[in-house]
Amino acid sequence: MKPVLVKDNIYWVGGIDWEVRDFHGYKTQRGSTYNAYLVMDENITLIDTVKHYLFVEMMARISQVVDPSKIDYIISNHVEMDHSGSLPELMKVAKNARLYTSPNGEKGLKAHFHKDWEFNVVKSGDSLSLGKRSLSFVQTPMVHWPDNMVSYMPEEKILFSNDAFGQHIASSERFDDQLPLDIVIEEAQKYYANIVLPYGAQVQKALEAASGLEIETICPSHGLIWRSKIPAILKEYVKWAGNETQEKAVIIYDSMWDSTKKIAYAVQSAFESKGISTQMRSLKSTHISDIMTDVITSKYICVGSPTLNNGILPSVSAFLTYMKGLSPKNRVGLAFGSYGWSGESVGVVEEILKSCKFEMLDNIKIRYVPGEQDLQEVTDQLIQTL
Ligand code: FEO
Repeated sequence: MKPVLVKDNIYWVGGIDWEVRDFHGYKTQRGSTYNAYLVMDENITLIDTVKHYLFVEMMARISQVVDPSKIDYIISNHVEMDHSGSLPELMKVAKNARLYTSPNGEKGLKAHFHKDWEFNVVKSGDSLSLGKRSLSFVQTPMVHWPDNMVSYMPEEKILFSNDAFGQHIASSERFDDQLPLDIVIEEAQKYYANIVLPYGAQVQKALEAASGLEIETICPSHGLIWRSKIPAILKEYVKWAGNETQEKAVIIYDSMWDSTKKIAYAVQSAFESKGISTQMRSLKSTHISDIMTDVITSKYICVGSPTLNNGILPSVSAFLTYMKGLSPKNRVGLAFGSYGWSGESVGVVEEILKSCKFEMLDNIKIRYVPGEQDLQEVTDQLIQTL
């Protein structure tokens, strides 16, 4: 439970959530952290807090540096309760602290906690002197809530980026060079795909604003602090925000009696024949939040369901609803599936993929169990169109 020095007199004092495996529907197999940062200056400042049940842990870390009642300023970059959940308890301890937040932050915090706090509202371009250092605020609305803002400390070249650049990783390590980079990037990719993806245009604007700043350290609100690999994560964010994809196909399906599964593998053969890399994602064994990690880099999104009760399987429906909400763009879709008599499933899948504004390949529909020749035809026909 030790604080971690980020730079002289700037400490990470967050909470490590080793146990969390579900983050509003997102599977967090590696747990998470909620990062709060303590700046020891003439005005002692805490940037963000932690989920309510890690309040004691955060306070234990702060107390090793300073008596928490001496905190002068609290900055709330984001209302969502993984970062604001400890505010009510903290405000009772840090009785004299002034609370700074964005205009929508004020509205959001009032609506969440219904407390009679005095709010100091800051906007883009406003600056707050902490003493030797200062914080400049930049509102980043819809990255990913209306209230989001980031705080930049020019004297130390630190960007406190809140959710942006975060990853759900619980670890004792605090910095990007202390864990293998592929793990950190993979979790940042999953985070982007499941939390930030709908807001690519806003992320591009925020990246543009950030490009004018000298940044040596990015302190996000989840996971590891970026200090050595900033160019690597910025490069990925530019791609993800621009909906840039690779020549890859993700083939997502569920099956009742393996007929749709057989079609899925015939579809895979076609992509393989064209030298296009594939990922097979059965909804029986892969969580929808992990499939989104594939969707974010794949040009081809192929979705299969058999017909059940004149519709699609609930697992496929859940995935499509989730993906549509996250709004990936510039993809090519393919609907496929088997059926017994009424055969609505492929049409239902196709309509949803079209509503995502995907360019569509010709759908594939086979009655009952596909034979070897049927499957070969699926592969051959798809090869023609790729
Ligand atoms: Fe990590 Fe939007 O909260």
